[in-house]
Formats: sequence, C-alpha cells, structure tokens
Amino acid sequence: MDARQKEQYLREYSALKAKGKPFFPYAVGKDGLMACVVLIVIILMSLILGAELGPKADPTTTSYVPRPEWYFFFLFELLRVIKPPELVFVATLGIPNIAIGLLVLLPFYDRGPERRPERRPIAMTCMVLTIVAMTYLTLLGSLAGSPTEIDMEVAPQYEYGKEVAANSGCLGCHKFGENGNDGPGPNLTKIGARLPKQAIERTLNNPTAPMPSFKDMPQAQKTALVDFLGQLR
Ligand code: HEC
Repeated sequence: MDARQKEQYLREYSALKAKGKPFFPYAVGKDGLMACVVLIVIILMSLILGAELGPKADPTTTSYVPRPEWYFFFLFELLRVIKPPELVFVATLGIPNIAIGLLVLLPFYDRGPERRPERRPIAMTCMVLTIVAMTYLTLLGSLAGSPTEIDMEVAPQYEYGKEVAANSGCLGCHKFGENGNDGPGPNLTKIGARLPKQAIERTLNNPTAPMPSFKDMPQAQKTALVDFLGQLR
C-alpha cells in the first residue's frame, strides 16, 4: 500500500466510522439476542426430538470399526496414506499445524491491500488447491475399507476362510494385500507361494511369539482359513 492509497483508505474509514453505530451496545445486543435464539432452538429440539444414544460401549467387541467424524476424514486419510511410523508425526502434528500457522500469519506475510478474489491469484490458487485436496482426502477417507475386512478377490469357496482371517485378528500383525498392518508378522499376501498348507496349519497351532496360538480355533474354521491362505499366491 503506498502513501496515497493509505490516505484514501483512512479517509474512507473515518467517513464510514462517523456514519456507523458503536459496537456496544448495538452489535453486542444483536449477537446476544441471536445466541439466545440458537440456544432456545437447541433446547427445544432436544426436548421435542430427543437426543440419540448409541448402543452401550462393548469393550469385548471385535467387529467395531473405529472411524472419526466425517469432518476429520481428511486428517484420518492423511494418516492412512503416510504409512512409515517415523513419519506419523508429520501427518498428525506437522502438516495440520503448518497449515494453521500459515493461516494465522497470513495478515503478516500478505500485506497487499487488494481484496477482490480475481486480483489475488496466488491466494485464490492456494485456497482452491486446499479445498480440492481436502475434498479428495475426505472422499478417500469416507471410502476407506474397514480394518476388519480383507479386500481381496477370491473364488467363492474361499470366501469363508477369508472372513475367518478377517475376524481372527490376523490383520493386527499381518498384511493381506492393502489391508492390515505391516508387521510385526510377515506380509501374507502371497503366503501360499511360500508355505505349503501343512506348514501354515502348523504355524497356526504352534506359532513363534508374539503370534498367538490358534490351536483352539474350531477345526472347520481353521481348515477354511488354511485353504484360504494356501491359495494366496
Ligand atoms: C500378535 C501378532 C500376530 C497375530 C495376531 C497373528 N500373527 Fe501370524 N505371525 C506373527 C509373527 C511375528 C510371525 C513371524 C513369526 C516367526 O518369525 O516365526 C507370524 C507368522 C505367521 C505365519 C508364517 C509366515 C511365514 O512367512 O513364515 C503365518 C502363516 C501366520 N503368521 C498366519 C497368521 C494368521 C492366519 C493369523 C490370524 C489367524 C495370524 N498369523 C495372527 C504375528 C502375528
């Protein structure tokens, strides 16, 4: 802003200020009234419509799918995309805080007087890119598969074994295709090519720690599980 623009701005500002009403009590009164209206509407809605209570928390459930509220899907997806544990802080703290910091400091590094969107190409480009990125991540986050699901195409006779694998906690330590955790157990996406079925069953009955033993799994389930694992190649 040069001296002439500044002078013009100050002139317009004092002219407008002379015309306007003081903040107290006009703006404060208006805001206070609106706040009361909103509060009353919420109270009436809770009295008339009631507040929904979800099912009671069940600490023993194995099928619970932890998911954030939809407006956090973009952060959730960021965390899903950034896999290496050393980089998790970049997704959880780094990127969001850098973004917030840039926003807070905006009035200090963008000193231009221009407020019309079409005259602020850099700011507009950044805004559009941010919106597109957040929308895209939100979409991916909302479509993310359940952590207790294995998204693999298998022949119909192996569907049951796949379900057993998905519901037996294997994903906590093993990866199946895109699902599960990369460790501490080895990736099982192609386990059938590495181990014969008998060896897989032996591992389930008599594993090396920290893998828990599945000796007590009902035989029908175990057979289906081993058949499913054996054809992964
Ligand atoms: C607590 C973590 C954990 C869980 C849960 C777990 N595993 Fe493992 N699993 C491991 C580890 C660690 C190894 C490697 C052990 C070793 O090095 O001998 C392993 C090894 C294996 C192997 C042998 C892999 C190879 O390449 O030799 C198979 C097969 C296997 N697991 C299947 C399963 C199945 C199926 C389930 C679910 C029913 C399961 N695991 C659950 C941790 C786990």
